[in-house]
Amino acid sequence: MTRAIYPGSFDPVTRGHLDIIERAGRTMEHLTVAVLVNSVKNPLFTVEERVELLRRETAHLPNVEVTSFNGLLVDFARESGAKVIIRGLRAVTDFEYELQMAQTNRKIAPEVDTLFLTTSLEYAYLSSSIVKEVALYDGDISAFVTPEVEHAVKEKMKQKQNR
Ligand code: PNS
Repeated sequence: MTRAIYPGSFDPVTRGHLDIIERAGRTMEHLTVAVLVNSVKNPLFTVEERVELLRRETAHLPNVEVTSFNGLLVDFARESGAKVIIRGLRAVTDFEYELQMAQTNRKIAPEVDTLFLTTSLEYAYLSSSIVKEVALYDGDISAFVTPEVEHAVKEKMKQKQNR
């Protein structure tokens, strides 16, 4: 059984992430979407909120589960019996960082391989940071995230502005 992990910060989950999850879920027998605790310095959402949003957005995918993890990714992979790490590649600018991470992980845990999925072209420009930037200035983020995530982001921005 091919178990895989799709790790990330997901602050918040975008349509680009969901595209990778759907496609990886079709290829792998089991996929764990894993939110890294403390990955973002000033996160918009708590880890619990990010996990909850991801769970709602992937509820229709029976072989996909969502959880959080602490520490080294390869340790988490070993604990969960996953032999594959999934990462999305948007553009050549992602490549250097992703290659470094993949090679480091492989050095520490040679039995765990990283598989890259190229992001669908329509989401090639997209990132959680861009979503937050546009939302901060009250821009329309409906093309970037689902309606549920859009609502959650707007609520967070309101809370921020009232502080
Ligand atoms: O969505 P992101 O922020 O690009 O995800 C980065 C993530 C969570 C995959 C990466 O930071 C990670 O795996 N961190 C866990 C710590 C670790 O294992 N570091 C060694 C890899 S070089």
